[in-house]
Amino acid sequence: MGFYAKHILPWAVNRACSAKPNRRQREKVVPLAEGRVLEVGVGSGLNFPHYDRERVVSVVAVDPSAEMLRMAESTVAGAPVDVDLVQAGAEDLPVESSSIDTVLVTYTLCTIPDVFPALAEMARVLAPGGRLLFCEHGLAPDASVAWWQRKLNPAWRAVGGGCNLGRNIPDLIRRGGFRITGMETMYLPGWKPASFNYRGIAVPTQGTALDDPGRPAPRDPPYPSTPVAIPVTTQAPGATGGPGFGNAWGGGVSGMTMGGPGSVLSRMSGGPGFGNAMSAPASVENETFGGPGSGRIGFGG
Ligand SMILES: C[S@@+](CC[C@H](N)C(=O)[O-])C[C@H]1O[C@@H](n2cnc3c(N)ncnc32)[C@H](O)[C@@H]1O
Repeated sequence: MGFYAKHILPWAVNRACSAKPNRRQREKVVPLAEGRVLEVGVGSGLNFPHYDRERVVSVVAVDPSAEMLRMAESTVAGAPVDVDLVQAGAEDLPVESSSIDTVLVTYTLCTIPDVFPALAEMARVLAPGGRLLFCEHGLAPDASVAWWQRKLNPAWRAVGGGCNLGRNIPDLIRRGGFRITGMETMYLPGWKPASFNYRGIAVPTQGTALDDPGRPAPRDPPYPSTPVAIPVTTQAPGATGGPGFGNAWGGGVSGMTMGGPGSVLSRMSGGPGFGNAMSAPASVENETFGGPGSGRIGFGG
């Protein structure tokens, strides 16, 4: 391993992941973890302070990088819950099947080289009723930003330890064998190619992209051939969102209505997500948001 990967990259990753907008996302997603938790790609342990000790029984946190785990070791003492750090990649999780209530993955699906085996592993370890919590940056809805994501990705990946700017996170999760039951998307403040954020909850379904060799192979990065339109999120009647994230933070998605922190959320179609996703690979255009009963789901307790 070179000097850069060993000494500079872990520091740079930790610094980038420590940004305040990302911390605000962690504050929303991590407290939803409950029961026996598996954190995949733990990095330097930035999620530890946000676990809810009342809801969490135990945390196993894995990462293949010894350097990142060393950084996590220094934060684990201050965690409100017991955390076991284990050196392992997501593609081969050292965890028994059906033994986990919550898999948490934050800002890591961008980096895992073999995403589908990794997602299959996450589905395998989840017990019945278990959930995948995700918070990731990925493909931007604006064609111009997506263009920059494509152009800059090779250089970004080289300096970013394999991080991809524009992975279509919901598409990967669905094709990886999950149904997304709630998701909120937005630009976080910052450099747009790296700041479109997907935060949500998913549950395992039957079958993954690994089961069907005829299924389109995942491209890396899996960019759609046409720009992806993230559907408009409608504000539920009576919901009390503050000014849109975009307006409040100066970097919103045009046409998107988002509440203030913790408010109105997108509801996914709830259909057989896997089938739908396969009929429109690498696209989120067939999602239906704001259906009956939409508004708050899942997040914020
Ligand atoms: C950008 S960091 C995010 C770390 C942490 N989840 C966070 O939110 O701060 C990406 C992490 O993914 C880890 N990673 C890379 N390949 C992986 C794999 N195959 N399985 C699991 N984690 C992986 C890296 O070592 C790194 O710690």
